[in-house]
Amino acid sequence: MDTITLPTAADMHIHLRQGSLMTMVTPAVAEGGVSICYVMPNLQPTISNTEMAVAYKAELEALAPKVTFLMSLYLNPALTPDEIRKAAKAGVRGVKSYPRGVTTNSESGIESYDIYYPVFQAMEEEGMVLNLHGEIPSDADKNVCVMNAEEKFLGHLKDIHLAFPKLKIILEHATTEAAVNMVKSLGDTVGCTITVHHLQLIVDDWAGKCHNFCKPVAKYPSDRAALRNVIKEGHPRFFLGTDSAPHPSHKKEGPDSCAGVFTTPLVLPYLATILESFGALDRLRGFACDFGRAFYEVKNEKWVGEVKLVREEWNTPQKYSFGGEGIVGEKGDVVPFMAGKPLGWKIASIN
Ligand code: DOR
Ligand code: ZN
Repeated sequence: MDTITLPTAADMHIHLRQGSLMTMVTPAVAEGGVSICYVMPNLQPTISNTEMAVAYKAELEALAPKVTFLMSLYLNPALTPDEIRKAAKAGVRGVKSYPRGVTTNSESGIESYDIYYPVFQAMEEEGMVLNLHGEIPSDADKNVCVMNAEEKFLGHLKDIHLAFPKLKIILEHATTEAAVNMVKSLGDTVGCTITVHHLQLIVDDWAGKCHNFCKPVAKYPSDRAALRNVIKEGHPRFFLGTDSAPHPSHKKEGPDSCAGVFTTPLVLPYLATILESFGALDRLRGFACDFGRAFYEVKNEKWVGEVKLVREEWNTPQKYSFGGEGIVGEKGDVVPFMAGKPLGWKIASIN
């Protein structure tokens, strides 16, 4: 098989940033073969109310008019059940929760879930989705570190699901066998996103290699195998959410490397190459196009195209530049995932 034809994909977890970085990244969504995406709210300041989400969506639509942007709010103490109802009416699709301090712009993340139960109740009633960054903060006294922070979070996922069985919850960017098993064991209202890079990386690939550093970090070979196997199975509650998270190269390469891997412009070429490497190319469409749309109950999209992928060996670009002439704001480069490395598939056309 040397060509694959698919509908444009659904990326249910993406960071589109702001300013000059947003100006570069947003048009790249369609370039990667994606026409609908679920947008993360961890900007500065965080997208914490309906007005901010609506304004951010308008900025994104101006940059990529054909793409459908599903918007989210950042879970925070000022979020009330009334604001949830208002957000739902305005078309905001969900709420993202970050535990405090675990990743980029999570300084205002949450410390306890119980106080949000009235908000979760309103979300359940309005049919909104709760997106969980599933890590607990590192704590040396309790032997919690980046390697076990996800596994130790899973009890919270179970508790929230048991308290709100009709609330749609997504465990975002799962990295462990334990997470896969937990999501499988819960009801149909619990889904799970998997990134491109966690299907490829293990701990050896990011330790000392700043461009592969992201949160949650990639784990053991057995964990990667569990992520791959659940895709091979074609499990419909596990779907694509790239967590593509661009940072200027100087911030990745500096002393305190920012977490995040940038995959947006090449999502489908990466996925076809990686899925083929573990014998799951036949699952590409379900994983990248169908299951995410179904979980989010997507009814209206601005545009769904047809992507043609062709088998061709070529190399991932070394960098993508942003800012510069005529563009207000910062200027720099973003190093993409697998920079300079060979890919086995290329997008031939998107119509
Ligand atoms: O690696 C990550 N980067 N993980 C996150 O949760 C946030 C993201 C970012 O915004 O840079
Ligand atoms: Zn993310």
